[in-house]
Amino acid sequence: MQGDIDRILIPRRQIAQRVHEMAAAITADHTPPKMDGSAEVTIVPILTGAMVFCGDLIREIPIAMKIGLLTVSSYPGRSVSSQGAQVIERQLEDVRGRHVVLVDDILDSGNTLRLVVPLVSAMGAASVRTCVLLRKDRPASREMQVDYVGFEIPDEFVVGYGLDFNNYYRNLPDIVTLKRDVLEARP
Ligand code: IMP
Ligand code: MG
Repeated sequence: MQGDIDRILIPRRQIAQRVHEMAAAITADHTPPKMDGSAEVTIVPILTGAMVFCGDLIREIPIAMKIGLLTVSSYPGRSVSSQGAQVIERQLEDVRGRHVVLVDDILDSGNTLRLVVPLVSAMGAASVRTCVLLRKDRPASREMQVDYVGFEIPDEFVVGYGLDFNNYYRNLPDIVTLKRDVLEARP
């Protein structure tokens, strides 16, 4: 696995520092007086990619919260570009009247958030905010309005810290690029 890495784009220490800052921003936005009323928070990682990021993030947000789950697939198998997003599983308790924060690993084409934001709004959430660790530098993702962004990265295929290629490499602690021959190898 280590031998497949081309270069480290964002090392683990830098990720941890940024996750800490993002958690502080989310906490501030969901604490009175900024957040009025008694509505509670539901954090929704978009699986599978946001699993690692969200696990770190929520442990730095010291407010009452529930967790919901949405599994969206857009890069099936060995794809390295979006094949159109679809919800393939959901475990969302009633989010009516709750402040929802959707958490994703990376904003690329924007198809995932364009699919899930209206879905959660239509369920009657009091508010829906979006949080992504990475945003790829491409026109489609710059057009999307996102509330919390960790890092802007070049338009390259990355893995690690939850992000996969063919469902591998999610357990790498850093965000890295893969060698060209790994991406091009036939199964
Ligand atoms: P979007 O729907 O095109 O914005 O892409 C969002 C989803 O595509 C992410 O949640 C990832 O699962 C996947 N994705 C996009 N870019 C990459 C990448 O560079 N590496 C791994 N997965 C990616
Ligand atoms: Mg994903």
